[in-house]
Amino acid sequence: MSHQGSTGVARIFKLFTILSMFLKTIYLAIYLFAIGITPAESQPMGEVAGDNDVIIVHAGRLIDPATERVLADQYLTIENGLIAAVSSNRPSSGTIVDLSEKTVLPGLMDAHVHLTSRHDQHGYRRLRSTPASSAINGVVNAHTTLMAGFTTVRNLGAQGYADIALRDAINAGLVPGPRMLASGPSIGITGGHCDMNLLPAQYKAKAGGVADGPWAVRAKVRENIKYGASVIKFCGTGGVLSKGTTIGAQQFTFEEMSAIVDEAHALGLKVAVHAHGSDGIKTAIKAGVDSVEHASLIDDEGLRLAKKNNTTLSMDIYVSDFILAEGEAAGILPESLAKERIVGRQQRERFQAAHRAGIEIAFGSDAGVYRHGLNARQFAYMVEWGMTPMEAMKAATSVTADLFGLSEVTGRVSPGLAADLIAVDGDPLSDIRLLEGVTFVMKDGVIYKDE
Ligand code: ARG
Repeated sequence: MSHQGSTGVARIFKLFTILSMFLKTIYLAIYLFAIGITPAESQPMGEVAGDNDVIIVHAGRLIDPATERVLADQYLTIENGLIAAVSSNRPSSGTIVDLSEKTVLPGLMDAHVHLTSRHDQHGYRRLRSTPASSAINGVVNAHTTLMAGFTTVRNLGAQGYADIALRDAINAGLVPGPRMLASGPSIGITGGHCDMNLLPAQYKAKAGGVADGPWAVRAKVRENIKYGASVIKFCGTGGVLSKGTTIGAQQFTFEEMSAIVDEAHALGLKVAVHAHGSDGIKTAIKAGVDSVEHASLIDDEGLRLAKKNNTTLSMDIYVSDFILAEGEAAGILPESLAKERIVGRQQRERFQAAHRAGIEIAFGSDAGVYRHGLNARQFAYMVEWGMTPMEAMKAATSVTADLFGLSEVTGRVSPGLAADLIAVDGDPLSDIRLLEGVTFVMKDGVIYKDE
């Protein structure tokens, strides 16, 4: 895994944290003034603490997956959006947030979402979507995702840079949502998984990220960065939901993949590859990608390569259930359903093998293919297929933060990091499904949910 650019990205995020806290307070003040109500009546952006307010979160139980520590009765001091201190002694001043009956953990992170997509618009229904409608979807889905306890996500693929507009709006405090890494349009070969293959030739339809040849793909990387991408995504094999592609077939040559990775790393961004088939997976790992998305048919040689290169796998092992049960009604093409019947079960088996082989596995759900806000359903599958609940939580916090290059920003409960916290009723170590019902959400020190 390359760590190039991670400190740069971390610094930018820290700056955003401070800036967005500030802007949020101002926007909220203007908004409330304009509509003439008090903060108690409306909380469009979450509960914003005043400049000098210190919040003390009293956690009945605190789990920090990074260190695997579980502590009773902890007091977290939150100042300026950051965790200032964690102690078993109650600080003398500050506004208490009483979570003494709950389990507190770091905000969850999802390495693979499509906030601008809808779960009920697959196949030919996709033709209705525009960059504008995608952005509107994004506003709704970002909120839903945050309320489900996901305080940071990586958005891998969106048309018309709708994801970038969304990320910027969230950072500016205009709309509530998770901290986002956004890729812009996924880079892919002509006719590949990341192209638009639904229409015949006379329509000349082509997805924004299509490029062929090493220099053309370098140019796409540069273009995506020019328009604000904070991560690069490309398609290295066919896919389930695309028309006319084969899951096992590699897309792009080693030369093209190397060009993408080299260019992205040189410009300070990490690279995520969509890959189901074993050849595409191995070629992409050799080319130096930071994460393999799906990784469904990774073979043993692929596992060895991933281990050797510290490549993280992000395996969406829940989504198959949605596709097979509800996909047809959502517009998914018959050929895609047929592909899913082959890939779904094998992906879970390879997840188990990858975990046994000690490979870094990040929590990546592909939410957007299925309903946003149900991201956490995947935890139970990760546990069913071999992880301990602690390992599954680590996959959605510290492992993801490391993959994102954000380990100095979020993903752990430690002083100096963003106050991104969630809480559940009960103990997720004995029932991982409790994470499907998060009752408290704080991001950057701002409370968005407190039930
Ligand atoms: N976006 C992915 C694709 O079309 C979804 C794959 C879902 N299936 C799975 N078993 N993970 O290829």
